[in-house]
Amino acid sequence: MSTQIDSLLHEDRRFPPSEEFAAQAIASAELYERASSDRLAFWAEQSRELLTWSKPFTKTLDWSNPPFATWFDDGELNVAYNCLDRHVEAGNGDRVALHWEGEPGDTRTITYAELTAEVKRAANLFTSLGVEAGDRVAIYLPMIPEAIVSMLAVARIGAVHSVVFGGFSADSLRSRIDDAEAKLVITADGGYRKGKVSALKPAVDAALASRGELPEQTTVDHVLVVRRGENEVEWTTGRDLWWHEAIAEAEPEHDAQPFPAEQPLFILYTSGTTGKPKGILHTSGGYLTQTAFTHKNVFDLHPETDVYWCTADIGWITGHSYVTYGPLANGATQVLYEGTPDAPHPGRWWEIIEKYGVSIFYTAPTAIRSFMKLGRKIPKQFDLSSLRLLGSVGEPINPEAWMWYRKIIGNKVAPIVDTWWQTETGAIMVSALPGVTSTKPGSAQVPIPGIAIDVVDDAGGAVGAGGGGLLVVTEPWPSMLRGIWGDPERFKETYWEKFWDVEGGPFYFAGDGARLDSDRDVWLLGRVDDVMNVSGHRLSTAEIESALVANEMVAESAVVGAADETTGQAVVAFVIIKESHLEQASGLADITGALRSWVGEQIGPIARPREVYLVNELPKTRSGKIMRRLLRDVAEGREVGDTTTLADTTVMQIITDKMVKST
Ligand code: WTA
Repeated sequence: MSTQIDSLLHEDRRFPPSEEFAAQAIASAELYERASSDRLAFWAEQSRELLTWSKPFTKTLDWSNPPFATWFDDGELNVAYNCLDRHVEAGNGDRVALHWEGEPGDTRTITYAELTAEVKRAANLFTSLGVEAGDRVAIYLPMIPEAIVSMLAVARIGAVHSVVFGGFSADSLRSRIDDAEAKLVITADGGYRKGKVSALKPAVDAALASRGELPEQTTVDHVLVVRRGENEVEWTTGRDLWWHEAIAEAEPEHDAQPFPAEQPLFILYTSGTTGKPKGILHTSGGYLTQTAFTHKNVFDLHPETDVYWCTADIGWITGHSYVTYGPLANGATQVLYEGTPDAPHPGRWWEIIEKYGVSIFYTAPTAIRSFMKLGRKIPKQFDLSSLRLLGSVGEPINPEAWMWYRKIIGNKVAPIVDTWWQTETGAIMVSALPGVTSTKPGSAQVPIPGIAIDVVDDAGGAVGAGGGGLLVVTEPWPSMLRGIWGDPERFKETYWEKFWDVEGGPFYFAGDGARLDSDRDVWLLGRVDDVMNVSGHRLSTAEIESALVANEMVAESAVVGAADETTGQAVVAFVIIKESHLEQASGLADITGALRSWVGEQIGPIARPREVYLVNELPKTRSGKIMRRLLRDVAEGREVGDTTTLADTTVMQIITDKMVKST
C-alpha cells in the first residue's frame, strides 16, 4: 500500500482548464475569496440566490449546541416548490426535466410542467392515504420517473422519505421500515434488469408479513404499487393500491405549503462499523442550498443547454443529491436510465450519451474500470463529442482510470471533477472547480468554497503539506447530517467524540484516511474503519459477519474488504463451520456456495462475498479482537504481516495451511 501511495503522490501531470472552458465557466476563483472572507455570509448569499424562500431567514448557523447544528433556522420554504413550480412560473415549464430511458428501450420525456402536475397529484394522493407532515414513507422502486415523483411529493407535504435501494432484501427492507416506522410503502411490481423483469413487490410482501421474531404488526397502512414489469403480483386487499388507478383519482391542484428550514426531508440508511445500518437524517434548507450550489458550480451547469446524466441509483445518496434534489432545484435537463450498463449490449451507456447529447456525465470509478477492461473499441463506436465535463464519485479513482476516462470518454479535453463526499455530508465537500482548478489525476484536490476540511493525526493535530492522517471537517456545513434517526448518542459517538476536545474542535470524523501533497491537494486513501467500499457501495464487515453467523452452519466468521481490480474492494469471508455440519455436508464447495448465496439473500446481492474461506481458527488479539489486517493479507495473497499481538502466534500458520478456498 505505501509504495502505491508514494507513487500516487509523485503524480505530476496537471491539466489546466482550456481557455475555451474557463471563458464560459460558471464557477470562478472569486467564490473562494468570498467564502474565505466571510464563510457564513457566503452561504447565506448562496442560499438566497439559489433558492426561493417563502419566509426569508435572518439567522445562518446556530452551533451553540454541537454537534447539533441548525442552518437558516427561522426561514421557511417548500423543497418541491423549489424543484418544480418555480421553474414553471419562470416560464420554463416546457423544458425537459427527465429524458427517461427504460432498459428495454422504451422512453418517456417529461417536462417541468408535467413533472409538477404529477407531483401535485401524488401529494394529494399521499395526503388522502393519511400521510401527514413528519410521517415517514418508504420508497422501494426501480429507476423510473415515479421514484422521483414519489420523493418530491413526500417532500411537498413535509413528510420524510426513506428510499431503500431496490437491490436490498426483504429483511433489509423490513428493518428500515421498522426503524423509521413508515406509514406508506411505494414499490413497483418489478423493473428491468439485465434483460429480464426483476420482481420487487414480493420483497415488500415478505417484509410486511409477520415472521419469526418480528412483531406481528408493521406501522404500514398502505402499499402503492407502480405497474412497470407487468409481472404477476400477489395482492392484499385494503392494503395494496395500484399507483396508476389511485393517481388518476387524485385531485390535480395542490398548493405547496412552506415548512421550516429544519423540517426533516429524508432518512437514508448507510452501513457503519456495527451490524445495524444507521438512518442518516437530512433536513431541508441547508441540504438544498449545498446540493444546488455544488451541482451548479462543480458540474458547470448551464440549464438552458446542458444535458446532465448521473448514473447513480436513487437508493444511494448520490441519487438523492445529484439525480433528484440538486439538478431539479437548478432546473436541469437530465437523463434517467432504468437498467444496467451492459444490457442489452456493452455500449449501452455510450449509446444513451449519443442519443440524448449528454454534456455532463457523473459516474463511479468502478464503472470506468470495468469499461476500461472491455477496451476502447466499444465507446469508440459512438459519438461522444457532446460530453464536456466528467465527474467521479464513490471511491478513489486511480490515475490510469482517470486518464482513460479523460482520453476515451472525454475526447482528451473534458475536465474531470473527482468529488469526495458521503451520505452524511449530504453534498460534495472536496472537488476541483471546473474552469478554475488545474486538475490532477487521482486527487480529489480541494475543499469547495465555504467548506473547511483538514487532515489530522490521531490527536487532532494538523499534519500539514506532505503529511498523512485522517480526514476531518473542521466547521459545520449546510448539508451536514442532523443526526442518526432515533439515536442521538450514536451520532455523537460515531462522528464527533474522536475529535471533540481538540484545538479548534469539535471536528467531524469522516472515517477516511487521506494525505496532503506539497500543494495541499487531498488524496483519499480509503476507509480507516470496518467499512468496505465495493463498487462504490458502502458495506459493513460487521453486518455481513452477523448475516453469516445467522446461518445454522456457521460458528464464527470474519469479513474483510480485499483489494479488487474492478470493484475497488471485494468482500472476502473467513468462516468457521460447526463440526456437526462439516460432517453432514456433501462437499466443501457446497458450503461455500451456499454461504455466498445466503449473504445475498440476507442483505442483497451487492454484499455477496467474492470468496468464502473455510478455516479452523480466526486470528485474535489477547482481548479477543479479530485482527482483520492479517486476514486481509491472506485475502490479497500477501505475506502475512506482524503477528506479535496475536493471542496465539501460530494461528496464522494453521489458517493458511488448513484453509479451504471457495470456487
Ligand atoms: C468514499 C458516496 C475517494 C469514502 C457519495 C467515503 C470516496 C465513502 C470518494 C462515502 C472520492 C466517496 N474519492 N473516496 N471521490 N467519494 N468516497 O456514503 O470512503 O456511499 O467515506 O457516499 O465513499 O460513501 P457514501
